[in-house]
Amino acid sequence: MEKTFVCSVCGHIEFGAAPQACPVCFAAQDKFADTPDAIKPSEKEGKEKHVPVLVVAKQCGLIPGVCQDVHIKVGSVPHPMTVEHSIQWIDVYLNRVFVARYHLTPASLQAAVGVHFKDDQKGKVAVVEHCNLHGNWMAESAL
Ligand SMILES: [Fe+2]
Repeated sequence: MEKTFVCSVCGHIEFGAAPQACPVCFAAQDKFADTPDAIKPSEKEGKEKHVPVLVVAKQCGLIPGVCQDVHIKVGSVPHPMTVEHSIQWIDVYLNRVFVARYHLTPASLQAAVGVHFKDDQKGKVAVVEHCNLHGNWMAESAL
């Protein structure tokens, strides 16, 4: 089983080993803790509203010709976005290397984002989302 290290400052998860510094909040390596249960099993109760759904589009309508899109929504059933219960952030990785964090605010946003990868990028996209009440959930797809 792959190790997961969680940043105690911002909640970012790194796979395999703790980084020199957090790529999200720049906290030092000693802020990371080996946390085997950092990510909820995808079959756990509540999965319908929490496991991210990834849709890979090889073409992009925004930046045609040089871009491939990954559309991400949280849950096959839409997750609530209220002050009390919401998806706070979505972290995206390519081949286990962090590429982006999307911070979400519940007042005006749905739990969804679009990611624009350069067209020469290949491999496995992983997405981790954080629910303020129900923790971290993950899904993967080939790019
Ligand atoms: Fe939730």
